[in-house]
Amino acid sequence: MTSGSRVAAGDVLDADRLRAALAEREPAAKAAPSAVRVVRAPGRVNLIGEHTDYNEGYVLPVAIDLEIRLAVVPTDDRRVEITLLADGDKAGFDLDHIPERSDRWIDYVAGTAWSLADEGLQLRGFRAVLASTLPMQSGLSSSAALELASAWALLDPPDPTAHGLDRMTLARLCQRAENEYVGVKSGLMDQAASSLGRARSAMLLDCRSLDHRAVPLPLLHHAIVVCDTGSPRRLQASEYNKRREECERAVRAIGDRDPSVKSLRDVDLDKLIAARFGMDERTFRRAEHVVRENDRVLEAVVALEAGDLDTVGRLFAQSHASLRDLYEVSSPELDALVEIATAVPGVVGARMTGAGFGGCTVNIVARTAIDRLRQAVETEYPARTGGRPRVFEVEPADGAGVVR
Ligand code: GLA
Repeated sequence: MTSGSRVAAGDVLDADRLRAALAEREPAAKAAPSAVRVVRAPGRVNLIGEHTDYNEGYVLPVAIDLEIRLAVVPTDDRRVEITLLADGDKAGFDLDHIPERSDRWIDYVAGTAWSLADEGLQLRGFRAVLASTLPMQSGLSSSAALELASAWALLDPPDPTAHGLDRMTLARLCQRAENEYVGVKSGLMDQAASSLGRARSAMLLDCRSLDHRAVPLPLLHHAIVVCDTGSPRRLQASEYNKRREECERAVRAIGDRDPSVKSLRDVDLDKLIAARFGMDERTFRRAEHVVRENDRVLEAVVALEAGDLDTVGRLFAQSHASLRDLYEVSSPELDALVEIATAVPGVVGARMTGAGFGGCTVNIVARTAIDRLRQAVETEYPARTGGRPRVFEVEPADGAGVVR
């Protein structure tokens, strides 16, 4: 995003503008402006640690300054209704009769209500308007952001701690909405990043213990740039679930020799190689990606803390090659973006981010080289793929909450 469009994006999210838009539509908001609250939840980009979260491994996501905001007025009728300011689309449901999945965006809200209610939490109906700067369906976790924003809107009072919930527990309840209501068997990374992100930092999350800590990013002279392939995420859900099964198959094969192995987190390269002939070649490759990727996350943290971006760039390149060749979740479009970026002087690292099969790449770029990267992507990518890319400079942001 250029600085010009960042200001424009800020306007879309402006809290007073959202309050006014809600008051225009909802008499309750007009009558009692002080009852209105604005909640927000960010998207995320993962720096490294891909397809490791559901293997109880390590991830290093960053919550970003592309986000979803809801202006909310609570009601006493147990009904939830949200209008999208972008196109006026409106959807809702009753909290006492949460409907079946409808394959629409409201599922993420209804699923979150279902998950929170099932936990025995006190929820309240509301009317809301929604504004977003987070591109949907681009692999930047717009679904996790919608779940987290919905959770903050549904809880009454609007503060998880008042309900005895910490931010990690809230993330897990939102993950349950995604896994059991929406039906996508995703790991915890996206919801954890949207819930627990910290400005200026990435989050190192151990998906086994759920221990997490902020890793400050050395971004004075560098920026995080996201390039969107603009391509549909073909086969993502089915292939994603297939990868999970392949990892489970690898665990069973290794566990036959060593019962202490409960997940790929328990496996190092020696153990994996020792079990090589107990599994087919593809299963071995999947497991090899996960085992090496976990090591790369920990190496990347050490390098970031030492300000050693060259090492981070090397790890990005290894991660991308592994996702392309061993895990097979990249796409020609993602590979093209990585190749184009890698050839631009000043681009320190480039790799696909998120589940794959389309979506975005993440790049660490010298601030002086951002325009050069944008230009290279905007000319070379359409020529190579016929697609229309988008390039965003993003800043690490805080996790979900109420906008003061
Ligand atoms: C998606 C999932 C995450 C994670 C990534 C791959 O974003 O939602 O849980 O598995 O893919 O790292």
